[in-house]
Amino acid sequence: MDFEKYLETIDLLNKAAAAYYLDDAPFMSDEEYDRLYREVVDFEWKNPDKKQKFSPTMRVGSKVREGFTKVVHSEKMMSLDDAFSVSEVEEFFNRLDFVPNGGYVVEQKIDGLALNIIYESGKFVRAATRGDGSVGEDVTENVATVKEIPLYVPEFAGISLIEVRGEVYMPKSSFEELNSAKSSYGEKPFANPRNAAAGSLRQLDPKVTADRKLKFFAYAITGISDVDIKSQEELHAFLRNSGFKTPHFEKIGKIEEIETLIEKTIAGRGDLPFDIDGLVVKLNRFDEQRAAGFLTKTPKWAIAYKLPAIEKTTKLLDITWQVGRTGIITPVAELEPVEIAGVVVKRATLHNIEEVERKGLKIGDTVFVRRAGDVIPEVTAPAEQLRDGSEKEIIHPENCPVCGSKLAKDENKVGYKCQNIGCQAKIVAYISYFVSKGCFNIDGLGEKQVEFLHERGWLKSVTDIFHLSDYALFLFGEKGWGEKSVRNLLDAIDKARKVRFRNFINSLGIDGVGEFIAGELEKKFNVGELIAATPAVLMQIDGIGDIVANSIADFFADEQNRETVEKLLKEVEIFYPEKASSSGNANFEGRTFVITGTLSQPREVFAEKIKSLGGKVSGSVSKKTDFVLVGAEAGSKLAKAKELGVKTIDEEEFNSMFEL
Ligand code: IVH
Repeated sequence: MDFEKYLETIDLLNKAAAAYYLDDAPFMSDEEYDRLYREVVDFEWKNPDKKQKFSPTMRVGSKVREGFTKVVHSEKMMSLDDAFSVSEVEEFFNRLDFVPNGGYVVEQKIDGLALNIIYESGKFVRAATRGDGSVGEDVTENVATVKEIPLYVPEFAGISLIEVRGEVYMPKSSFEELNSAKSSYGEKPFANPRNAAAGSLRQLDPKVTADRKLKFFAYAITGISDVDIKSQEELHAFLRNSGFKTPHFEKIGKIEEIETLIEKTIAGRGDLPFDIDGLVVKLNRFDEQRAAGFLTKTPKWAIAYKLPAIEKTTKLLDITWQVGRTGIITPVAELEPVEIAGVVVKRATLHNIEEVERKGLKIGDTVFVRRAGDVIPEVTAPAEQLRDGSEKEIIHPENCPVCGSKLAKDENKVGYKCQNIGCQAKIVAYISYFVSKGCFNIDGLGEKQVEFLHERGWLKSVTDIFHLSDYALFLFGEKGWGEKSVRNLLDAIDKARKVRFRNFINSLGIDGVGEFIAGELEKKFNVGELIAATPAVLMQIDGIGDIVANSIADFFADEQNRETVEKLLKEVEIFYPEKASSSGNANFEGRTFVITGTLSQPREVFAEKIKSLGGKVSGSVSKKTDFVLVGAEAGSKLAKAKELGVKTIDEEEFNSMFEL
């Protein structure tokens, strides 16, 4: 980086910080900010004489927004040094001039905003944001509406003044809810739960904050000298006893041990109900923290290990319009490829035109993309500040992008539908669905292969799948079809001829019938009974209301559907799971379970229950596993389950499986 680039970068970073802190509307991902910030630090380190007073490295946080009273913190609210690798964390603690004895406390780093709350004789009197570290904003009235923050703490009654510090955050579910509510008012969505939390707290109407379902984790206290707490670990106990939630933490003896904690955290992160952006590693003993001391902005006894970002910015290059098996048109964001937590994201579904409009996206926008855990990547919001006028409106096509027929509004009125039953895209999408997992599960037949075979005219409908062997000779030698892959495919098709009833039902693509309902239907009917079932009979099944009942009955009443089902039944043999024996339970019978993580009772107890009801328990997760029962702090098995798409259940869901 040369001097000119340096000046440009600090200017950009200052603007980004203002958008982030003052407007709660960032235009740069944290990851991009951190990267540029590091380049600036590096330049300033090499050229100390060129360092500018207005460099972002000279400040801790943000300016105070107008409209709020300023609060001078009794003790500066520090920030933390960042580390991006285990070795950076190790180096950080190696810089101390002593070897710590009391171990380390590793806490979740909650992705929210820091808050200082003052209690006098047990009473909540004031709350302030961090601001620039020295001066924050008075958000007392708003914070008073946050239910997880007690307004009176009996344990503090004898303490004239104590300040509790922690992180205010918005759970992911509340964030989703808020954004969809915002959309119904035609308002812009928040880019992520942290901005939503900040926006909810840093606005002037406490009623609005009260509606926003914010939560709070406490991780520090100050302003007090007469509480006898000797370590971070004890502090957690003290705060929890006093009615606060504290972030999840683990104690480790040696710093190297964070490596496994990091792995575990990455694997479990997607399942947490809130966003975390790292782990905070703190010296446990307070005397050792004091011995380590502080730099100007950060402590020398704690560091933040930053997890791989789950949110990045990239360009929205185009929108393509996909035709689904029912004809519904789905806008798909074509993105400039961006790596998010180990996966390259190139496309993201936008579900329907309403979502596109609600998010206010334009082609050419820089957009925020989130990929949390195994959740499909999502475009959350555009960075409007970066627009240069060349962006293009997104306009819904009037005709089917594949067959050209005029589109109609779909039943839910949020999108459009191609109504041409002969539309090739619909047929290809349906066949692809028919062969997917949960249906006929035919390996080697992906959407590409289906499209290819369909174009050749060898796969015009699902029943043609079972006659593909007629074309084997033609297939050999086609691009991408070696002898082995053709043989494997034909084998897979043969195997699929024996199909479990619930998969068969699921594969029909009946509106409103997915894997779950298919499983329920399997418990009650055989194929003949299902075809003949009236809506009244169907409605007796748990989870089936009149809409789905009618949809099923209508499906089988349709002559064309009946014909397809009959043709299929000539090709395949349906099997039914053995009906539960007297001690058995269909949820367990023949199913393979893997148990991982810490549960409320020893694993053997769960294993026995599973076996007694006809299930199997295995030590490792594979494609054959039906369920992974996941306890707290699950690690590699959970990760493996996600990788393979195996269903994971928690203890509560497990318990509900006993009810038939
Ligand atoms: S300790 C002097 N612990 O991260 C140490 N901070 O990058 C002060 N944060 O300003 C911070 N979770 O907003 C600490 N468990 C945790 C945290 C945490 C989230 C935030 C906090 C802080 C920022 C530093």
